[in-house]
Amino acid sequence: MGNFKVEKTKNSRRMMRTKVIAGNWKMNNDINGTIELISGIKSILAGKKIDAKLIVCPPFTSLETAKELLKGSDVGLGAQNMYFEENGAFTGEISAAMLKSVGCEYVILGHSERRTIFGETDELINKKVKKALDSQLKPIFCIGETLEERESGTTFDVIKRQIQAGLSGLSDSDMKAVIIAYEPVWAIGTGKVASPAQAQEVHAFIRSELVKLFGAVSAENTVIQYGGSVKPDNARELLGQPDIDGALVGGACLKAESFVGIAE
Ligand code: PGA
Repeated sequence: MGNFKVEKTKNSRRMMRTKVIAGNWKMNNDINGTIELISGIKSILAGKKIDAKLIVCPPFTSLETAKELLKGSDVGLGAQNMYFEENGAFTGEISAAMLKSVGCEYVILGHSERRTIFGETDELINKKVKKALDSQLKPIFCIGETLEERESGTTFDVIKRQIQAGLSGLSDSDMKAVIIAYEPVWAIGTGKVASPAQAQEVHAFIRSELVKLFGAVSAENTVIQYGGSVKPDNARELLGQPDIDGALVGGACLKAESFVGIAE
């Protein structure tokens, strides 16, 4: 595919992006499982200095328990979804204010499982992103192409559309609170990880699109995570790429050792 280098990428500025490792628990762990996993993460982290921000994103039912357990630790708390309306007759949905009230700082939005299984559109995801920002929640905004799209050579078109639509109406100052997660759908939960070069190529493209939409400074400062079968043994090479600023981890975040191992 193309060669997208962000102009004016200076190492000194790039170094300022803290790596962010977020664990997307998906529909896993009841309260007991939550206590076990967070206690495990805390005990591995005890006395260690890790040069990355860690975030856990348990299911809604575990958020309050997770918040209690994480008191006094640097590990951040996020949810996996929310609805954009303030409140009302939206059976089964959870609002931004509700997430704030249980101590969430982050929310994953537009995950490919939400897009494909639950039919979420770019427009819906954009409303959620805006509502999250209005509510002082930091969106982890997910994008990524399917295998079919990659094979038909439309990866960059898909990514561009998802970014333009999903981040429509945001300002460069809004972008300070946004994390982008590039997750090729074909790499999620399949064990088929994108090669560091494949991932870097799309990350650089994403950053070049951000330059056009929000300017060079904002683009340089935006954290762009990679997601899709990230494990401790492939994390180092992926996270060593110049435009890969962290990981959104599914399967490997369900064990404390592998989640913290990725960050280490
Ligand atoms: P995976 O999931 O690490 O199990 O591939 C990543 C994700 O869906 O965020």
